[in-house]
Amino acid sequence: MLNGKKILYSGMQATGTLTLGNYLGALKNWVTLDEEYECLYGVMDLHSLTVRQNAAEFRKNARSLYALYVAAGLDPEKNCIYYQSHVSGHTELSWILGCFTYMGELNRMTQFKDKAAKHADNINAGLYTYPVLMAADILLYQADVVPVGVDQKQHLEITRDIAQRFNALYGDVFTVPEAYIAKSGAKIMSLQDPLKKMSKSDENVNAAIFLLDEKDVIIRKFKRAVTDSGCEVRYGEDKPGVSNLMDIYSCVTGRDYAAIEKEFEGKGYGDFKLAVGEAVAEELSPLQTRYRELMADKTYLDSMIKMNDEKAAYYASKTLRKVQKKVGLTEKIK
Ligand code: TRP
Repeated sequence: MLNGKKILYSGMQATGTLTLGNYLGALKNWVTLDEEYECLYGVMDLHSLTVRQNAAEFRKNARSLYALYVAAGLDPEKNCIYYQSHVSGHTELSWILGCFTYMGELNRMTQFKDKAAKHADNINAGLYTYPVLMAADILLYQADVVPVGVDQKQHLEITRDIAQRFNALYGDVFTVPEAYIAKSGAKIMSLQDPLKKMSKSDENVNAAIFLLDEKDVIIRKFKRAVTDSGCEVRYGEDKPGVSNLMDIYSCVTGRDYAAIEKEFEGKGYGDFKLAVGEAVAEELSPLQTRYRELMADKTYLDSMIKMNDEKAAYYASKTLRKVQKKVGLTEKIK
């Protein structure tokens, strides 16, 4: 508990540009959570180092992610939005937790196996201990809930296991976090292969809508989106392409499937795809304007980063000190 509220923690990696999937599946739904929870969101730049980065581009992406959080509607005065690498407690706690994590557990992580297969030339130790750093992120702030997608569920499970193991040895040190199941929000699939998740690292640029795509690009990508056989706009397992577009349309317009089916009765896929493209472009337009304003206002963004870095560091130091003491590290002489 913090300021009388439960604590919610999440974040995204500071790599590449966010997609419509990141937005509709996560970010957009985070905006109202500060009413119920004390929310912390990290720009997860340390995790990004598990894959080779170009330093200048990486720095730009991290700031861009920060600005996108804010542009999407997360108020940095009410949500602690900060840089993971600016709070040294993450790596310090990560080392300690690593000594309470078994290789057998890490060997079971499906994301490690996937990433190792994808980056066979760079299977580094950071990729392997990625879940330990993620556990440190969450446990450092005594988070009660963590909104995560299905691909991160296993990492949250191992976080809970580490926390419980530590608590069993040293008493109630960590809050054991629960997954936060969103009331709304959908899993958005690739526009080119609707059986695959929309991903920012997809090789096919037409597979994903990026949050900073221009209107004509958005419309063009939707026009090229893969649909299914037949010509009816109908939701169903046999129509993954159309169903994905309906999910997207539903998220941005608030209309349910029945209403959407009615709206496009007797019309073809062409009309439908254009309507989805226009609705998405309209949804993203204010976010893009706000993003540009924020990126131009260095003073404001810097002041928010500084304030929240300090806030996060303060919370983190409390947990870290407790942990250091419990495991028997010698206190510094004051
Ligand atoms: N691994 C997460 C992802 O790729 C990002 C992340 C890092 C995270 N630390 C976290 C998410 C802590 C939630 C909580 O999506």
